Amino acid sequence: FPEEIRASEFELAAETARRKLIGGVNSDVYTLNGSLPPPTIRVKKGETLDINFQNRLDEESILHWHGLTVPPEMDGHPKDVVGPGEAYDYHFDVNQRAATHWYHPHPHGRTGSQIYHGLAGFFIIEDEEEQALNLPSGKYELPLNIQEKQINEQGQATYSLNMMDRMMGFFGNRLFVNSIHAPYHEVTTRFYRLRLLNSSNARILELSLSDDNPFYVIGSDGGLLEQPYKVSSVTLSPAERADLLVDFGRYEVGDSLRLEARTRNGMGGMMDGMMNNGEGMMDGSGGMMQNEGSGGMGGGCMMMQRSRSSDKVVPIVEFRITEEEQDSFQLPEKLTSPSFPNESEAERTRRFNLSMEMMQGSSINGRFFEMMRVDEEVPRNALEVWEFHGDRMMAHPMHIHATQFKVLDRSGGELAPHERGWKDTMLVNTDETVRVLVNFDAPEGMFVFHCHNLEHADNGMMANFEII
Ligand code: C2O
Ligand code: CU
Ligand code: CU
Repeated sequence: FPEEIRASEFELAAETARRKLIGGVNSDVYTLNGSLPPPTIRVKKGETLDINFQNRLDEESILHWHGLTVPPEMDGHPKDVVGPGEAYDYHFDVNQRAATHWYHPHPHGRTGSQIYHGLAGFFIIEDEEEQALNLPSGKYELPLNIQEKQINEQGQATYSLNMMDRMMGFFGNRLFVNSIHAPYHEVTTRFYRLRLLNSSNARILELSLSDDNPFYVIGSDGGLLEQPYKVSSVTLSPAERADLLVDFGRYEVGDSLRLEARTRNGMGGMMDGMMNNGEGMMDGSGGMMQNEGSGGMGGGCMMMQRSRSSDKVVPIVEFRITEEEQDSFQLPEKLTSPSFPNESEAERTRRFNLSMEMMQGSSINGRFFEMMRVDEEVPRNALEVWEFHGDRMMAHPMHIHATQFKVLDRSGGELAPHERGWKDTMLVNTDETVRVLVNFDAPEGMFVFHCHNLEHADNGMMANFEII
């Protein structure tokens, strides 16, 4: 598990490093304060933070606090990048409810690479409301940062984009959790809280337990849900989080089970048919396909997996029940009373057409990202409906900075339990329209919203909104 930072004043230094991820060969990675995965920042609501970011990479960078509402100059807008050897000072108040957020770099065109190389850490906010519930904490609270990597025959993680990857997003062949491939963890016969983050570049994960036993979803991107929901799977697209409670009390010492994922690439039927030639690309061992070739159009095509959940199940972490332990924890019936705004109070509706332009990148309303162009002007504290129209080709996990929104509906079906709480990232499936109700209460200035398929964002699927 990542180390934790609980201070209110600290430094975060990004550096290049070489680490063994799988087997005996080093991979190129980026660390923060020498750690991979980066430290977990844990704060209490109401705290003020002073963070000094030191960029010791060989390229521009800037940190963004995903899920937080902070002033524009503290949000890590790509225009605020600092060069190698430079630093950026952050100073902001954390004034929002408890939730599992995260932080990562945001330099335009390089975000996918920098997150892939390891710069993705948890940013956990605690508050009194949550504390009163006495949820499992300390060693019973497991932050699980799940990321897909492409591992070559030498056991090295690689990131190089061919034309197809640039268009579809970068897919890998192994899942890592907290930068470890398929580890195990020893647990006792009681409730545990799992904080899940999908920090993959493009992979959509349908997560479940290997014995198909149910578990409870208690939180989404923006914190506690109204009540715990009993489910047998939860789907997370890139950047989404889910808070789970798992009752290991139903097992016996000596038992073991896995958290595992069915993997999806988000491609629509048409695209998928074009890209996919059946089961041929699956390998027999690791559970996912290999990309043996060095890339090129052909290699890229072979890498693609079916859009609907694949039959292959990929292990994330194994839980071994090693000890009997008495648990006083009672699953609460109610978690919080959400105060969602009312759609009838929305001042206006904005429509966004998501589309993928062959060979050029991905766009929002036909336009590619431009650093200083203001695409939308939003009055401060305005309540608006934002309507995202998906395309035929791929699903797009849409993320809005500096706010949490309420998903009103999706045309393609029901909202999953974790989609009913506060969110900052929402998957828009192919041919689907998703409407979200969003309040803009950050201070005046420029922020971005974008697709969190990182290659889509890096290739233009991002826009600026200015709070005025
Ligand atoms: Cu994870 Cu622009 O965000
Ligand atoms: Cu963000
Ligand atoms: Cu996208």
